[in-house]
Amino acid sequence: MAMTYDEALSKLAEQGQEHLLAFWEQLDEAQRAGLLAQIEEIDFADIERMREALQHQQGDVAPAAAGEFGPAPVTTLAETGDPDVRELGLHALRAGKVGVLLVAGGQGSRLGYDGPKGCYEIGPITNAPLFEIHARKILALEQKYNTEVPFYIMTSEANDAPTREFFKVNNCFGLSPDRVIFFTQGMWPGLMPDGSLLLDRPDHVFVSPDGHGGILVALRKRGVLQDMADRGLSTLFYFQVDNPLIEVADPDFIGLHLANEAEISLKVCAKRDPYEGLGMVIARDGRSEVVEYSDLTDAQKEERTPDGQLRLLFGSVAIHIFTFGFLKREADQALPLHVAHKKVPYCDEAGNIVKPDSPNAYKFEKFIFDVLPDAERSLNVEFAREEEFSPVKNAEGDDSPATTKRDMIAKWARWFEACGVSVPRDADGNPTALIEIDPCYALNVEDLKAKLPEDFKIEGDVLLK
Ligand code: UTP
Repeated sequence: MAMTYDEALSKLAEQGQEHLLAFWEQLDEAQRAGLLAQIEEIDFADIERMREALQHQQGDVAPAAAGEFGPAPVTTLAETGDPDVRELGLHALRAGKVGVLLVAGGQGSRLGYDGPKGCYEIGPITNAPLFEIHARKILALEQKYNTEVPFYIMTSEANDAPTREFFKVNNCFGLSPDRVIFFTQGMWPGLMPDGSLLLDRPDHVFVSPDGHGGILVALRKRGVLQDMADRGLSTLFYFQVDNPLIEVADPDFIGLHLANEAEISLKVCAKRDPYEGLGMVIARDGRSEVVEYSDLTDAQKEERTPDGQLRLLFGSVAIHIFTFGFLKREADQALPLHVAHKKVPYCDEAGNIVKPDSPNAYKFEKFIFDVLPDAERSLNVEFAREEEFSPVKNAEGDDSPATTKRDMIAKWARWFEACGVSVPRDADGNPTALIEIDPCYALNVEDLKAKLPEDFKIEGDVLLK
């Protein structure tokens, strides 16, 4: 039975939030039902934690990076590539123990694209959308290793329906629909500086996605942990929607994770410069942690070792592997809250929608990397950024569609050269042809070598599919 008006009023009144019902008399039946459902969903234990986080934010609190810590241990590229370790990863894949988790519930506000970011077209020749590239990598793994790799996609209330529709009209890009599983993350209200909740319409409480860390609760609440257990999965590869260079469920990475009996593994890469906004992996009290860029002082960002290297060199780019048991354990843990001061449209006392010019309210998010200190064992593995990481974050400049396409082409150009095919390049060394290789044609250089005709030459744009 849905909540009644009286129940809603009493729930809100206990917390001094009855203003959410201020426009009740003007609402029609459907609007009333929607608002009651929202009020029913609000968990005031969460709101209390938000208020505490806000007080901390407004007070003078030491940043997370205070106290004693050092750089976390990192398995470097030179140490990776052991064939026995790779075999462990391949074995897990072939045995159907590996699943893939994609977080795609974000709002993509920096890119300014109207729709789920995964629908954004990025293939340099085919305009393949991000979702297609990810899905085809999973399909390629299934074909190559004759296995099943379930693909779990976290969406949010705002983009769930268009995401599902996109996969449906594209026949899941060749994947079996019973192995493409969508689930929604939680939505959280925002708070005004005085701790009150806001309406963004007379019939609607302002809510936004609870952050990629919201995946833990969502996995449990939406029955996904059970689904993973039913499918016998033990290892989950986790990544973000905006990076088409991703090496999905790479057997070397899985092998390292398994060989080290880690509960969580992270791929880490060297910062471009001291001020790049990557979260740094640090070690404190024998455990790894990720510290946000904004929590480090300039001196910490710039500190160098005697050989001239940055002391905090390695950052996390949200490419992880989790053991199933760890995910299950963490699903019941409360992650810390991260607060952001934002411009949030709201409904004023007369019922008009106001779009503020400056930040007026606070949004709260959970970040997945905050689980790291809970792990009994974790592993940080270095990777070469140009091979695996070039996200579409901004509309222009760094980490924009232009740089991502450039990096995709550059990667495939290196594959060709590794196969002995010469790539025409301009004076700056950039390939002059567009290149695109479908993941089901080749997932890596070895696949390409095995398939390319001997006399293959690049004479114009190259599309291999
Ligand atoms: P970002 O932090 O880049 O955020 O998300 P975003 O929402 O995509 O973009 P901006 O900041 O609004 O411009 C990193 C990854 O985490 C997912 C995103 O979909 C992306 O894959 N994410 C983020 C979620 O799944 N849920 C969230 O609440 C936030």
